[in-house]
Amino acid sequence: MDFTTKKLLYGGDYNPEQWLDHPEILKKDIEMLKEAGCNVVSLGIFSWSTLEPREGEFHFEWMEKIINDLYENGISVILATPSGARPKWLADKYPEVLRVDASRNRNLFGGRHNHCYTSPVYREKTAIINRKLAEHFGKHSGVILWHISNEYGGDCQCPLCQEAFRGWLKERYGTIENLNQKWATTFWSHTYQSFDQIESPSPRGEMALHALNLDWKRFVTARTADFIHHEVEAVRSGGSDLPVTANLMYYFDGLDYFKLAKELDVVSWDTYPTWHKKADIEIARDNGMCHDLMRSLKKKPFFQMESCPSSTNWQGVSKLKKPGICFAQSMQAIAHGGDGALYFQIRQSRGSSEKFHGAVIDHYGGNDTRVFQEVKKTGEVLKTISELAGTVVKSRAAILYDWDSNWAMEDSQGPRNRGLHYHEAVLKLYQGLRDQGQNVDLIDMEQSLERYQLLALPMVYMFKEGFAEKVKAFVENGGTLITTYWSGIADDTDLCYLGGTPHGLMEVLGLRSTEIDGLYDWEENSFVPQPENALGLTRQYTCRYLCDLVKTEGAQTVMTYGSDFYAGYPAVTVNGFGKGSAWYVAADADAEFYHDFLAAVLKKAGITGPVKKEIPQGLEVTTRESETELYCIYQNFGTEPAKLPLPEGEYETVYGEPEQMLEVYGLTVLKQKK
Ligand code: GLA
Ligand code: ZN
Repeated sequence: MDFTTKKLLYGGDYNPEQWLDHPEILKKDIEMLKEAGCNVVSLGIFSWSTLEPREGEFHFEWMEKIINDLYENGISVILATPSGARPKWLADKYPEVLRVDASRNRNLFGGRHNHCYTSPVYREKTAIINRKLAEHFGKHSGVILWHISNEYGGDCQCPLCQEAFRGWLKERYGTIENLNQKWATTFWSHTYQSFDQIESPSPRGEMALHALNLDWKRFVTARTADFIHHEVEAVRSGGSDLPVTANLMYYFDGLDYFKLAKELDVVSWDTYPTWHKKADIEIARDNGMCHDLMRSLKKKPFFQMESCPSSTNWQGVSKLKKPGICFAQSMQAIAHGGDGALYFQIRQSRGSSEKFHGAVIDHYGGNDTRVFQEVKKTGEVLKTISELAGTVVKSRAAILYDWDSNWAMEDSQGPRNRGLHYHEAVLKLYQGLRDQGQNVDLIDMEQSLERYQLLALPMVYMFKEGFAEKVKAFVENGGTLITTYWSGIADDTDLCYLGGTPHGLMEVLGLRSTEIDGLYDWEENSFVPQPENALGLTRQYTCRYLCDLVKTEGAQTVMTYGSDFYAGYPAVTVNGFGKGSAWYVAADADAEFYHDFLAAVLKKAGITGPVKKEIPQGLEVTTRESETELYCIYQNFGTEPAKLPLPEGEYETVYGEPEQMLEVYGLTVLKQKK
């Protein structure tokens, strides 16, 4: 189902159940929401004990009043199902709903997200409350979307979940012999005789069977997706056919979001960047890449469900956002293809663990605060650029980002247990592409490659069945491929490929990886340009952490290592294959390398961005498009005002002053006829 909105969503997490005894505050909330330009709130996320204070006793009247009041004032509701935190009566009466940890200890009541996804009781109770919510509010004109639970995450290792895991494995492997073979269980004599003997990984038991660890993670995703499905079904049984979302988290490692997104109509996510810890542009790139990942999950507009307008109290240091950052962060969600930017939270709670978490309305409660004023300004600008709602991002470049592969690689024991620096490696590549004004999709191995001109495989450790063939066809048909060290090493169940790596791509890349050197933290090597190399590179660059030693079999060497016993060995190579070309980067090179390398590779391949001019450092240029218009969006995350590299040809200004220098944290939006 599509979720389309004619406007950009703006608002945030609203928790009126904390203020029911303060009607004057609830009234003021609405006034201030309107003043801030908000058009939506997410409601009811942690309301279960207010909605159902005793088993079977439901109270919806308070929520009805809130939804009506909001609606009368032009504010829509994204209504939550409350499964993220359960009432005490539920846990006390039915202890099976509480989670069991890896040491097989059952949790006490408390916190949130502390529930078993398999428990029939938990499923029954969530179905009842979801259905009733849908019956009451599913057809209310003020309710536009379901917010299913909150930040799904974690696992449960109770007997019910163990049973479900065994069933899932049985379906996957058919016979225990097949499982033993795929899991390599003869190693350390861990062969199973039947599925009944299998237990999830535990520090008290099995942790060394990598394929077991991997399949447990896959199972947790499958269980979570199944639970989402169950929650959505319950909402449907209450007569609501509104679209659904769930709020995802920043590069969350615990769940394969590509699989989870299949249960959702629209993706939303919660972002809490640690602004001012590093240069703004570095934080912006990392945040922007996560927006791009979220957008890529469904290749459709997503939105930012949560972000903090001021300081985030669970971070090590609760840093205030300098003036302009809250605005810039909200705009970045839109620039990367989002259709909304919401905050956590509208009104700061008075007690408990988030009482010092930033909010649109703080404990003082007035509209004359620095934060409120910036939120208000952001709301005004979102209105001005509202024609961006529903427009899409098209990318010529894609980076492979696959949860299975990342899980297996992080668990692999070697070649560098002190840190593979995978995230950094992906980010450097991403930055290099963004520096050239390229939009980037992040995709898993299941997606089609047809729409892309450039595909990057940074440390894609696992090649699933059929993946190498797909990449080969991509290059053959004229695509530009960039593969790095530690790619194509293992198969779907983490069995190492025999006969040379990168598996299935040796011919395409014109080389074979022979050995890989792990470097100590303080060690460095370098990339030295070959005279008159294919890219015209002339500088040396530093590399660290991992150095792959390759034997070329047809590839041309572009750069070589500068030191150690492998000085002079190839470090960057290229091979022509079919109509395309395949580049190999053998080590973890620095950001400057990726900047120069990608500029040269894109140029050589004739892959251009919307802006043909050099993009000043710190400036982010993104594009969105409708059927007829191309929008160019500029944001300055640098330290100085920047001159905009304007698009060629005629353009119209949607927001900003394109001829002027763009101030730090500023925004300019232009449009051109396509
Ligand atoms: C998460 C949760 C919210 C809130 C915020 C605080 O994103 O979804 O309920 O706890 O963190 O930053
Ligand atoms: Zn369980």
